[in-house]
Amino acid sequence: MSATKRGLLPNPSLFHLPQYVSEDRQRARQVSIALNRERYPQVVDVGLEEDPEAELPESTGAWPGASRTRKWLTRLVGALPPKEIFLSELPPEARFSRPKFFRHATHAGSMVLRQAWARATNFDFQTRSEGAFSRLMGTIPPPRIHKNWKEDREFARQRLAGVNPLQIQRCSNVPGDAIAKAAEKCLAQRYSSTFNQAMDSGRLYRTEYPLLSQPSVQQEVRKGAYLAVPTCLFYVDDTNTLMPLAIQLKPGDTKEGNPVFTPLNEFWDWRVARAHVQASDSHYHESISHLLETHLVSEVFALATNRQLHGDHPLAQLLIPHFEHTLAINEQARKNLLADHGEIARSMAAKHTGNINLVRLAWKDWQYQDHHLNNDLTIRDVNDLPGYLYRDDSKEVFQAIDDYARGILGIWYVKDKDVRLDNELQSWAQEISDPNGGRVHGFPSAINSREVLFEIATSIIFRASAQHAAVNNGQFGTYGWIPNAPVACYQALPDSLPESGSALFTEQDYYAAMPDRERTFGQAGMVWLLSEPTMSSLLRAGEQPAFSREHCFQAWQVVGRFRRRLKEISDAIDARNDLIGFEYNYLKPQNIDRSIAI
Ligand SMILES: [Fe+2]
Repeated sequence: MSATKRGLLPNPSLFHLPQYVSEDRQRARQVSIALNRERYPQVVDVGLEEDPEAELPESTGAWPGASRTRKWLTRLVGALPPKEIFLSELPPEARFSRPKFFRHATHAGSMVLRQAWARATNFDFQTRSEGAFSRLMGTIPPPRIHKNWKEDREFARQRLAGVNPLQIQRCSNVPGDAIAKAAEKCLAQRYSSTFNQAMDSGRLYRTEYPLLSQPSVQQEVRKGAYLAVPTCLFYVDDTNTLMPLAIQLKPGDTKEGNPVFTPLNEFWDWRVARAHVQASDSHYHESISHLLETHLVSEVFALATNRQLHGDHPLAQLLIPHFEHTLAINEQARKNLLADHGEIARSMAAKHTGNINLVRLAWKDWQYQDHHLNNDLTIRDVNDLPGYLYRDDSKEVFQAIDDYARGILGIWYVKDKDVRLDNELQSWAQEISDPNGGRVHGFPSAINSREVLFEIATSIIFRASAQHAAVNNGQFGTYGWIPNAPVACYQALPDSLPESGSALFTEQDYYAAMPDRERTFGQAGMVWLLSEPTMSSLLRAGEQPAFSREHCFQAWQVVGRFRRRLKEISDAIDARNDLIGFEYNYLKPQNIDRSIAI
């Protein structure tokens, strides 16, 4: 039965599944889709399929061919964007809207001016003390974390409710004899427990960063910087608080030349080990959790939607708001942030080639199903990890999105047959899964049931909104205070620990291991830019003609229900934050951009 016959849509030419429009209209839709395929060439141009060993030019601190004036200006106020950034190759409707462009430009301009002022008023300062970092912040207020970043509890909390909450996993086997032995000592002294007791009771967790050991990443680490491949162990204590137990900075279980650090070590020795972990975590976070798993994967879905679904298609109507500005921000990232002259090349331990190689390595084994929220939580075995605010909030938002996507799509797809007969939908799935197209491993090449379609739509909207917010919104809060999380550490990985009672590192050594003045500006500037507040929150999902009251009363009701549910979730998050005395707001619906736009 057609949607019109069901009495839902007054205009037979709009917002129908393709099998339910007239033959003339079907032909017109096909012509329009073919034109769109030319306007949106299918190139996910991040070099994902290129050879990770391919040579790329050295970073020069300014872009190749920059004039003397621009090089001089770069030294004075930091990197200026190349001229090409203002020239977009995207179709007009995919570019930044004027309000978005001006907001972005104003935000960037404000950062450039603030940093120019900080440079001018702190010309001689080096980053050798905590006070020096405060002064280099200039007029930018440091994030809350600058008050308690030295605490172990805060270090562990960043695994649960920080900017990269995706590395923590339960530890259910011995990760290595050396680290287990060191953890055992810490457990005995601080928590009256043994390693086996901690593991058997499920209170042991770990984070690991194995891809950082790959030659295509390590060979691209800048001179003077060090990129550890750490293993960290954590323990849930009797107050249900996650606490760090041990850190081993190099891969492999050899004790020789690969000491294990614990909170029992001297104060700054332990904090140097923690700083290396933060730098390694920043590479996994920015290149994999943030860039690859939200920006680039969403780009695949955005392109397929533009290339295979007519604009009147109900699924296109549902998804299009969640791709707003995504192609534009990714284009800008490629031209600026990820390029040879960009902030990643200037700030992070791995140069831009190293970070792109990290993306390629992660993408090689990336499976669509493994990254569905519930599957990911199950694979990492973190469903009962106490204080895991990312999980708690994301599950609420995921459920609300699921109800919304089912409610909307269920109006058009009444039976599984409606899904199977939808040739535009089938081409869309085919393109996303195609090894020469979207290359999303594990994505079904054909969609045969409503259930599968509803799950896919929920997952796409969640990734483009909440998942991105979880790994994007906290960038300034984490990396804005450099001593908390430097994105590069300039201290060699120790080969041994001294006898107990003496220390390897002093406070001065700690700050000397932090980025220098210019790289401090680079890191703080990069995360300031990327923490731009949202313009269109998730509460503005469903602002599409197909779901307006005039076109489809039922869809309009679903949108209303979704917004009310999001407001309830917001209130619950506020109440929870009041109760625990800590503000985790990255997944508060008002703070979730409905699309990846920054
Ligand atoms: Fe982002």
